[in-house]
Amino acid sequence: MKIVKTVADLRKGIEAAKQEGKRVGFVPTMGALHNGHLSLVKQAVEATDFVVVSVFVNPNQFNNATDLDRYPRDLNRDAQMLQTVNCELLFAPDVKEVYPEEDTRQFEFGNLDKVMEGQFRPGHFNGVAQVVSRLFDMVNPDKAFFGMKDFQQLAIIRAMVKQLNLNVQIVPCEIVREEDGLAMSSRNTLLNSGQRKNAPIIARTLFESCKFASDLNFNELKSKVISSINEDEELEVEYFEIVDGNTLQSIDNWNESDYIVGCIAVFAGEVRLIDNVTYKNTDHEH
Ligand code: PAF
Repeated sequence: MKIVKTVADLRKGIEAAKQEGKRVGFVPTMGALHNGHLSLVKQAVEATDFVVVSVFVNPNQFNNATDLDRYPRDLNRDAQMLQTVNCELLFAPDVKEVYPEEDTRQFEFGNLDKVMEGQFRPGHFNGVAQVVSRLFDMVNPDKAFFGMKDFQQLAIIRAMVKQLNLNVQIVPCEIVREEDGLAMSSRNTLLNSGQRKNAPIIARTLFESCKFASDLNFNELKSKVISSINEDEELEVEYFEIVDGNTLQSIDNWNESDYIVGCIAVFAGEVRLIDNVTYKNTDHEH
């Protein structure tokens, strides 16, 4: 695996692969890699011929300076992990390389970025769209792989690709979980032992809610999920929304959509965890 830090070196590496007729797969990350990321890389290796992973903690998508400071970083460890899964090129630029000048673009996503994460993390998705569009321009991948844990991010990236008319296929990948159900996240390493022990309650509650969901109206279902998580002393729900899986807008009943997803954000102390569960999916596009 080659490690490059500049766009010029990145382009050289990719150009050579493209000239050999290879299809380029891309997995953008912010590092602090875990098995969830490795699973994205493995799917990229299966589906394409030359896999590029970027490790870049994008300041533009953090609306909270402490969160940015605390974000875990360990490039050597990331590189070692990527060696084990046939990544060909690791792109680890610094901030000036990605943003030689300030990116002032404002994306317009309609209602997609007004809800959930967008409501609680203003500017976050604009920053994600800025960096992902730049990285797509640098890597020019045939396919790019994103985890479904960041469900809203996936919708935003699809919308961005459509708006900018980019020629890249977005491949959604299933959430990878720890044995106890906790969705894998770089932020999990920030949990103290009590928080880590109780954090799987989030996934467990979501999964259990699937069993009784259809017997309840949405207000009852929401209150039940929120109150059972909040009963735990380590956890505090920020939001739990039941939404149309395509538009991400809140819906009120089971007949309103073919694709219904419950999305949640929970604080364990200062660590913010997100997860989601699909309640209904008869929309075969997904
Ligand atoms: O999901 C992430 O890790 C980030 O939001 C991404 C897509 C790498 C953009 O910085």
